[in-house]
Amino acid sequence: MIIDAGKRRIPPLVLSLGLMALFGVAAALIGLPQSLGLHRPRWDLLAAQPLKVQVHIAAALLAFSLGLVLFAAPKGTLPHRTLGWIWVVFMTTVAASSLFMTGLNGTAYSWIHMLSGYVLISLPAGVIAARRHKVLVHQRTMTGMFLGGMVIAGAFTFFPGRLMWRVIMG
Ligand code: HEM
Repeated sequence: MIIDAGKRRIPPLVLSLGLMALFGVAAALIGLPQSLGLHRPRWDLLAAQPLKVQVHIAAALLAFSLGLVLFAAPKGTLPHRTLGWIWVVFMTTVAASSLFMTGLNGTAYSWIHMLSGYVLISLPAGVIAARRHKVLVHQRTMTGMFLGGMVIAGAFTFFPGRLMWRVIMG
């Protein structure tokens, strides 16, 4: 199903994620979290993190937001290419910084590092496909990375006990 928004068509996935983000911001503005017994985000926890973690989180949130824009906006245009390159830089930063981070599995790499390898291989593959005008391969590679990398890895960071959970809930 495709939702018609005037002349432009917004994919349902982008619409749902965008609406969820808007709901989150609106809920925070009207103080819903506080009325449910939650507290303001613990920014001090983020400020106390090593630079590599701060860089990882900033790049991940930027890549997530820009990814939504890229999905919703027209493809193949100059803005798509320019923003696409910026997205590639953000994603490379997310995956590369994660190679210097451990914790879930002590000092050894955990299963999430498989996502880092997947992203570092898929990024050049997706760019090469675009340059060779293999649109379907490009679309599948980039969408797979956004869903597999951003949405799954991102959602997993908000699991109880992990840093983002503690920032919001702990
Ligand atoms: C919105 C998206 C994301 C957010 C907010 C985020 C946030 C974080 C945070 C806060 C940590 C360190 C603290 C903790 O483990 O709780 C972390 C660790 C990690 N992240 Fe992310 N991340 C995101 C996306 C990604 C993506 C796309 C990848 C892979 C390409 C990735 C790979 C990793 C890895 C490998 C670790 C280290 C896990 C370990 O301790 O073994 N993250 N992330």
